[in-house]
Amino acid sequence: MQHAANTAQAEAWNGYEGTHWAAHQDRWNAVNAGFDTPLLTAAAIRAGEHVLDVGCGAGATTRLAARATGPTGRALGLDLSGPMLERARELAALEGLDHASFVHGDAQVHPLPEGAFDVAISRFGVMFFADPAAAFAHIAYTLRPGGRVAFLSAADPAGNEWLTALTGLSDILPVGGFGSPGGPGMFSLADPATATAHLTGAGLTDVRAEHVEAYGTWGADAADAADFLLDSGPGRHLLAQVDPPTRTTARHRLTAALTRHHSPGTPLRLRSTAWLLTATRR
Ligand SMILES: C[S@@+](CC[C@H](N)C(=O)[O-])C[C@H]1O[C@@H](n2cnc3c(N)ncnc32)[C@H](O)[C@@H]1O
Repeated sequence: MQHAANTAQAEAWNGYEGTHWAAHQDRWNAVNAGFDTPLLTAAAIRAGEHVLDVGCGAGATTRLAARATGPTGRALGLDLSGPMLERARELAALEGLDHASFVHGDAQVHPLPEGAFDVAISRFGVMFFADPAAAFAHIAYTLRPGGRVAFLSAADPAGNEWLTALTGLSDILPVGGFGSPGGPGMFSLADPATATAHLTGAGLTDVRAEHVEAYGTWGADAADAADFLLDSGPGRHLLAQVDPPTRTTARHRLTAALTRHHSPGTPLRLRSTAWLLTATRR
C-alpha cells in the first residue's frame, strides 16, 4: 500500500523547531530525561538485540539503547529531521557508540525490512504522525514475531506545567496550535483509548497504556526557562503574532508564572505526563 509522507512535520523539524532542538539538545534532553527510566524498563533491552528508535531526534534514547544492546547488538534511530540527525551522529561518535546509527526518513513511509528488530522504542516521537495507522502498521511490520514496543506519548494537556503556564498568557498571546487529544499535534495520542486502538489496529497484542509522570529541568531559574520556552518553535511562533511591547509583557508574565515552581538555588523543574504504551508483535 502507498502511504503519504508527513510533509508538515518534515517542514517543522527541518526548519526552526528542529534547529532549536538540535542546537539545544542538552536542554531538551534535560526536559525529557525523567521519562527514560520507565521507557527503558518497559523496553527491557537485552545484550545483542536490535532496537529501532522512532522519531529519535538528537538520539539521546538511541544512545541509551545502544548501551543496553552492547556492541553485539545495534540501535537504529529513525527521524525526519536533518539538523537533529546530524547532532545525533556527532554525539554517538563522541561516545564511541559505533553500533548506533541513524537514518533520515519518515516513519510512515521509510522502507524498513520485515521482522528486523527485537524492540521499537520512542520518547515522544510517535505522536506527530499524520497517518498513525500507516506508521504503526509499518513499525509493527519491522518487528520480529514476539518483538516488543515501548513508546512514550504526551498525555493530558493539563498535566503539563509548561503548557499550563503558557496558557495563562492566552489573554495576550494566541496560545493554541498544540492540538487537543485525538486531533493532530503533540496530543494526538493523549486519549489512551485512541493510542491503544492504533497499536491493536497495527496487529500488535498485549497492548497497554500506563500513565507516567516526570519532572524535567527547563532552565537555571524561571527567567531562563521562560526565555527557553518562548524561543522554542511554538513559543517563537506565538511571539511572532504580537507586537514588541506584548512580547516583553509575555516574557515577564511567563517568568512570574514559572517562579511559582522554583525553589531558590535549584534548577526550574516542571511536571509533565505521558502514556507509556507497550505491546508485542504476534
Ligand atoms: C518531541 S521530538 C522528540 C525527539 C527525541 N525522541 C527526544 O526524546 O529527544 C519529536 C521527534 O519526532 C520526529 N518525527 C515527527 N514525525 C516523524 C515521522 N513521521 N517520522 C520520523 N520522525 C518523526 C521529529 O523530527 C522529532 O525529532
